[in-house]
Amino acid sequence: MVIKLKGIEHIFHLTEHFLEIWSVYMGIKLDLFDYLQKHPGTPAELAENLNYRIELVKPWCETMWACGYLNKKDETYSLTRWSKNFLWKESPTYLGFIIQSIETQYLPFLSFNNKFKKTEPFLPYSSQHMIDIATVIAPIAKFVVPFLFNEIPLLKMKPFVLDIGCGLGAYLITLAERNTKLRGLGIDKEYFLVQRAEEIARSRGLQDRIRFLQMDLLEFEFSEEVDCILISNVLQAFSMETNIQLLSQLSSNLKDDGYLIILECLIDESRVSPKYGILFNMYLRMESLNARTYTLSEIKLMLEKSSFRFLSHKSIITGLDLIVAQSLKISDERRPNC
Ligand SMILES: C[S@@+](CC[C@H](N)C(=O)[O-])C[C@H]1O[C@@H](n2cnc3c(N)ncnc32)[C@H](O)[C@@H]1O
Repeated sequence: MVIKLKGIEHIFHLTEHFLEIWSVYMGIKLDLFDYLQKHPGTPAELAENLNYRIELVKPWCETMWACGYLNKKDETYSLTRWSKNFLWKESPTYLGFIIQSIETQYLPFLSFNNKFKKTEPFLPYSSQHMIDIATVIAPIAKFVVPFLFNEIPLLKMKPFVLDIGCGLGAYLITLAERNTKLRGLGIDKEYFLVQRAEEIARSRGLQDRIRFLQMDLLEFEFSEEVDCILISNVLQAFSMETNIQLLSQLSSNLKDDGYLIILECLIDESRVSPKYGILFNMYLRMESLNARTYTLSEIKLMLEKSSFRFLSHKSIITGLDLIVAQSLKISDERRPNC
């Protein structure tokens, strides 16, 4: 069902969200939340200790208090429980990096004027922009990996995992840290990301089990068969035809009883909800004319056309869906429930 907007109020709600996001964003970037977590204090103390202007720190504290991100007692501000959980960078459930992603998400919209006009070239995103995106979203792996272990028991055994479009390698690194028998290979076309992923893996003593290679997934050639293939936030960048071509290639790299693990932001069949899905679709389209959010039926069609059999779909959080498939080669008797 399409959402019915309420009167003139809606205009103000939109503006409200916009201003609130920027205020939270500034608090994260300027370490204001972090500082207040360790040293609850007055705006004057906060301004003095961080060397910021009191004329801005004071209204920021008032705003964040009014919006529910800060507590206030007398003139002393501190983090609310919610902010402590999600905005304090040292919290194990820190999610502020998602708000920080406005840094990368607003960029493609800035050139909307040229992008809409047929007479102007639609400029592709730069390598640096893709590196920034992959870097910003990398911490999500920490939240998703426990879910993957739960859903795909093979990941707890001794699997070899191929991560296609691995970005900073956060999935492979987190998987390998939590399962010391797991090995893997990540490929990405950005040299910087692959190199950085190698460095992180080395710094955590994982270099003997996981490797990263610079490679274009559209020219991917790999002669071995692996236990799991992970493809996270990658299909969204390509057209249906390209994805079928890519998945067909990958199907020959998966062992008969192996798993294809897709992480994507899906949208329902009516392309209305979740609202995040359709907004994200707009953002993707501003990045590339081939990019889009897919529906589950479209993913199923891609799988069918590339010799995979759909096994399951689960929404992890709004904006992140897990789809699991197996090779069509496996017979029904040997197929485990997933
Ligand atoms: C949105 S990021 C996802 C990164 C990671 N999989 C994740 O979910 O955190 C997309 C990644 O795909 C990579 N990529 C895009 N096109 C590619 C191509 N043709 N070949 C290899 N990698 C590609 C990008 O460099 C980027 O790291």
